[in-house]
Amino acid sequence: MRNADFLTGITTSGTPHLGNYVGAIRPAVESSKNKDLVSYYFLADYHSLIKNYDPRLRKQSALEIAAAWIALGLDYENCVFYRQSDIPEIPELTWILTSLTAKGLMNRAHAYKAFVAENQEKGLKDPDKGITMGLFSYPVLMAADILMFNARKVPVGRDQVQHLEMTRDIAARFNHIYKKLFILPEVVVDETSAVLSGLDGRKMSKSYNNYIPLFDTQKRLRKLIMKIKTNSLGPDEPKDPETCTLFSIYKAFASKPESEQMAVRYRRGIAWGTVKQELFEYIDEILEEPRKKYEELVKNPADIDDILKKGATKAREFSVPFLEKIRKSIGIHSLG
Ligand code: TRP
Repeated sequence: MRNADFLTGITTSGTPHLGNYVGAIRPAVESSKNKDLVSYYFLADYHSLIKNYDPRLRKQSALEIAAAWIALGLDYENCVFYRQSDIPEIPELTWILTSLTAKGLMNRAHAYKAFVAENQEKGLKDPDKGITMGLFSYPVLMAADILMFNARKVPVGRDQVQHLEMTRDIAARFNHIYKKLFILPEVVVDETSAVLSGLDGRKMSKSYNNYIPLFDTQKRLRKLIMKIKTNSLGPDEPKDPETCTLFSIYKAFASKPESEQMAVRYRRGIAWGTVKQELFEYIDEILEEPRKKYEELVKNPADIDDILKKGATKAREFSVPFLEKIRKSIGIHSLG
């Protein structure tokens, strides 16, 4: 197995939703089919340890995320699809990297700083209250995920850009101190992939609890779409598509001419009920087949395990010998 042209991780917390689909899953599924590229996609289950202490939820989330990616057409034969926790070389590399990562670098991480700031705002005596070493050194584990497979490009959301800068920093430091083994990975923030609005008009996100799950029942999908917030303009009044949550969701799924056509109908005046019904039908049709596959898959978790294990075997064809090289370069190998 070759090193990764593209690599990205998905934290196993929560249920996959429409926002995940247009932002991450859809573009990843596309590139998973490219025969000229080696793409690595993995379930970042060790990362999920820092925010979720419920073992059942973690397991359920891993199952749902893996099933969703497969059901939506991930070419898991062509790409490398695995669980982080099936690659023991990753935590091993994490410690090696931890030992040369400047604490000052981690002090500057946005997620950590936000936590500290919140504690300070609350007037707490200890600004580090509630902060685990897992949260603090999260970026090092992420660096190990990426460097373990010498990934060239890492597609992520905007909030992860700083982590990639840290990864490059850590890699450069290793290369300088020991041996030039690591490629400095490039971050890819896809400006064309859509950021979806949620039920309340803010970005669709698990943390705002405003999301539409990908694979709920058809009835629930309809109900949630009907709940999307709109303004109180009457059915015949002209409406502005550009500021409308419904339209932004429609646009993320429909073709360009279809969206343009919808925008014209907005400006002429269209009833909210009609837009919602059409949006529901549009998304439902896209999800109909994948939903069946998904339901089949979650009923047979052993099949998913099998796919992920095969992925881990492929990934380890790279990580095992590479870690050996890394160990050699730091002076941890046979004493002979
Ligand atoms: N931290 C990423 C997120 O929350 C998930 C992740 C873990 C990741 N390891 C990674 C992304 C390695 C890219 C590469 O979205």
